[in-house]
Formats: sequence, structure tokens, C-alpha cells
Amino acid sequence: MRYLDIDTAKKISKIGLGTWQFGSREWGYGTAYAGSEAKAIVRRALELGVTLFDTAEIYGFGRSERILGEALGEDLDSVFLATKILPVWPVAPVVEQRGVASASRIGARRLDLYQVHQPNPAVRDGTIMRGMRALQRTGLVDEVGVSNYSLNRWMAAEKALGTRVLSNQVRYSLADRRPERGLVPYAQAQGRLIIAYSPLGQGLLSGRYDSSHRPSNSVRLNSALFLPENLERATGLISALREVAEAHSAAPSQVALAWLIRSPVVVAIPGASTVAQLESNAAAADIDLTDEEYQLLADESDRFTPVTGPAALPRILGSKLRRR
Ligand SMILES: NC(=O)c1ccc[n+]([C@@H]2O[C@H](COP(=O)([O-])OP(=O)(O)OC[C@H]3O[C@@H](n4cnc5c(N)ncnc54)[C@H](OP(=O)(O)O)[C@@H]3O)[C@@H](O)[C@H]2O)c1
Repeated sequence: MRYLDIDTAKKISKIGLGTWQFGSREWGYGTAYAGSEAKAIVRRALELGVTLFDTAEIYGFGRSERILGEALGEDLDSVFLATKILPVWPVAPVVEQRGVASASRIGARRLDLYQVHQPNPAVRDGTIMRGMRALQRTGLVDEVGVSNYSLNRWMAAEKALGTRVLSNQVRYSLADRRPERGLVPYAQAQGRLIIAYSPLGQGLLSGRYDSSHRPSNSVRLNSALFLPENLERATGLISALREVAEAHSAAPSQVALAWLIRSPVVVAIPGASTVAQLESNAAAADIDLTDEEYQLLADESDRFTPVTGPAALPRILGSKLRRR
């Protein structure tokens, strides 16, 4: 495992573990997963040196936080624990109460990183950051983070907090490189951190899926990336991942992660449906890509132009209706 070079109280592994999958119906992994596999994934992650664990109050309506906390048990104090508040009513007392509730579901004395899950479109961050500041003062929260924030809003959040907002957790992978336009350079210049979510494009970059073999859970049925047309368009990128993977005796998913975390300010938090996937993802931290391999993948990623946004909506609906 490799770790981030940053001045935080605990070390942060370059590959973390995302736990939206834990206890969330939309991933469709079932009760055996929530009841035992999830715990086994966490225990193995610890053995492999993973320190960054990411959850949220909304994942499985609190179930993810509970499952993660139980699985970490006595190791809670030694990991870098990150959770998130969904800022539906972002006034300071509510933020404080929700922070306490998250910590209690997890069973943690301290949240190493408390993130705002997404910007509230109607309320600016002054009120929410007042609550965050209070949580930092009491010692329940160490670092504050945001998620799905634009660069301007991230900077405004820092101003409102009065100290650093350590990280911005955003969708970032070879299938979606928008964070490179402003967020990654900002993190580099200011000593901040980008936490890449959906770093495997929700499984697309593993090469397991194609237009004749699509995943069937609701997360991916509702995702434009998994439209048959986009799976076709991804063929070049997947072939390039396979080619580079072969040179490293690795899997395409590992190369996708290695590509992402090559930047010193980016960490990735892939989710995992099995212990074997977690093992593979953790091992990706040790893969060193050459400059040529890095560029080849960047070029193929540039050529990948999926149908997204409003244009994808009727197609998603049509493809769901056809599956019935
Ligand atoms: N802040 C936010 O708004 C936000 C949004 C989304 C996610 N997140 C966080 O980011 C984490 C990761 O994102 P994500 O779950 O959306 O996407 P992801 O990590 O890109 O994809 C996870 C899925 O990819 C497949 N996979 C994982 N490792 C694999 C491997 N080694 N080989 C082959 N397939 C593999 C698994 O699905 P199958 O085995 O079923 O194919 C797994 O469920 C989440 O758990 C959550 O903590 C945050």
C-alpha cells in the first residue's frame, strides 16, 4: 500500500474503501453481502494496509455506517474514517446533531473527515460551516471535506469555515476526467486532496461488461455509462486498459486505479462486491505505470465520448423498459 504525503493526524492510503454498497438495496448484493461479505471486505482491507474508509449517513439509510463501524471494531481509532452529511436542512444545530448521530451509528469517538455530501442548491455554506466549526471545536470532527463541489464553491466553503476544507470527493476516473479542469490543479497548488469516487466507472473499467452483458442492478440501470451505446463506445478504452494490464500481469481495473492515483493529490475509494475485488484494488496502489502507458490511457480516455446528460435520459428509460 502507498500513502498520501499530507499533514493529517492519521495516514491516508492511496486506495481506500468505498462502502455505499454496504446495506444499500440499489446495489442488489443481498443480505449475505450486508451480513458477512461486507465485514470480510473491511477486515481484509485492514490487513492490506487500507486506512481510508468512506461512508455516508444516506448509504442504506445508516446501515453502511453501522456495518462499517461494527466491522472496524477496535481498529476504528487507527483508520482514517470519513462520512458525510446530506445537507437537506443545513443549519448549524442540525449539522451538529447529525454529526453526533453518524459517529454514534459508527461507534466512533471521532470522525477524521466529515464531508458535505453535495452542495445545497438553495443555501450557501456559511450556516453549514458554522456547524462544522462547532463540531471541530468539540473534537468530534477533525477535518472537514466537501463532495461534488465546484472549485468556486469549494473555495467559498473554505472561506466560510475559516480553515482548510481538506478534500473534495468527486466522480473521477478514466471514464470521466472533469476534475482535471480545475479541482486537481487547485488541490495540487493548495495542498488539498481529491477523493475519487466511482474510480472504476462503477465497474465499467473492469472490462467485465459489454453491450450484450450489462449489469442488472438499479444503480447501473440508471447510469448513462452502462447504456449499450456507451458500452460500445468504451471498447477502445477497455482494450487499452487490457493491453497495459497485460504488460503488468495485472487486471484492467487495477490499471484504471493506478492511472488515477498517479497524481500525488488523488486517492481512490473503489467499492467492492467481493473480498477478491478488494484485494485486487488494494494491490493496484503498487503498480507503477510508465509515462507512455499513462499517456496512451489518457488519449484513449479523450476518445471516449459517452452519451450523457439530458440526451441519455430517454435512452436510459427505453433500455429499462426493454428489459421488462
Ligand atoms: N460522494 C458521492 O456523491 C459519491 C457517489 C458515488 C460513490 N461514492 C463513494 O465512492 C465509492 C465508490 O464508487 P462506486 O461504488 O460508485 O463505483 P466504483 O468504485 O467505480 O465501482 C464499484 C463496483 O465495481 C465493481 N468492482 C470493484 N472492484 C472490482 C474489481 N477489482 N474487478 C472487477 N469489478 C470490480 C463492483 O461491482 P460488480 O462486482 O457488481 O460489477 C463494485 O461494486 C462508493 O462506495 C461510495 O463510498 C460517493
